[in-house]
Amino acid sequence: MLTSDAGVNEIHAFSRSPVDWQHKKVRGHFLDLTDETSIDKAATEATATSPLDLVIVASGILHRDGELLPEKTLRDLSSKALTEVFAVNTIGPALIAKHFLPKLRGHHKTVFAALSARVGSIGDNRLGGWPSYRMSKAALNMLIRTVSIEQARRLPEAIVVTLHPGTVDTALSKPFSKRVAAPKLFSPTFAATQLLRVINGLEQKDTGGFYAYDGSPIVY
Ligand SMILES: NC(=O)c1ccc[n+]([C@@H]2O[C@H](COP(=O)([O-])OP(=O)(O)OC[C@H]3O[C@@H](n4cnc5c(N)ncnc54)[C@H](OP(=O)(O)O)[C@@H]3O)[C@@H](O)[C@H]2O)c1
Repeated sequence: MLTSDAGVNEIHAFSRSPVDWQHKKVRGHFLDLTDETSIDKAATEATATSPLDLVIVASGILHRDGELLPEKTLRDLSSKALTEVFAVNTIGPALIAKHFLPKLRGHHKTVFAALSARVGSIGDNRLGGWPSYRMSKAALNMLIRTVSIEQARRLPEAIVVTLHPGTVDTALSKPFSKRVAAPKLFSPTFAATQLLRVINGLEQKDTGGFYAYDGSPIVY
């Protein structure tokens, strides 16, 4: 993992709730995706001494407290749920891109990766369902593709992508993971290791793409 990588000097971890990271390489910062001022401040704080080489946006929402649930049909759709899901899955990462991409510097490979989901692929959608989550991730994919084009003009060495981690045993998948057979339900450590491997293997030609945990490209 990143902390044991000798080439990694410092890791900045961002969350809206305090975390005791207990590792000498890790510095914690407050960041709420729904508060642009906190994103701006976190980006400034994290780059006070040096620019960043890798930014990973690993946040997201599918359900909350039994109140917000992924919709089975169009009838379940509400403006309130759409607004909350877009705020976390699309607008938050867009603002992170706005404030953090300018902090990727230097003429060597740098990466900005946002976690999306295969269900956000329009071309791969054969099942339907979960419209707000799917829409928010499809919009995130579009953001990343758009930003990658702008970024290629500003800093050609920077690679900007979305990643699908697979189905991972986390709070997000809890209500649905019972239906997933064990070998296809990844531990967070396995998924993170896979995604770092994919990031390490990315080349400039891959910018703007959408990749699964095994490195295979996913159609937008
Ligand atoms: N798990 C899967 O099977 C799966 C599959 C495909 C894609 N993904 C994607 O992978 C990413 C990570 O998902 P996960 O499984 O790790 O989900 P998770 O366990 O539910 O974690 C989501 C994280 O997002 C953070 N977050 C939510 N709202 C926030 C806000 N306003 N400000 C700051 N942080 C906020 C949460 O912080 P708190 O701890 O403070 O709530 C939490 O740490 C997401 O983008 C998800 O869509 C997951």
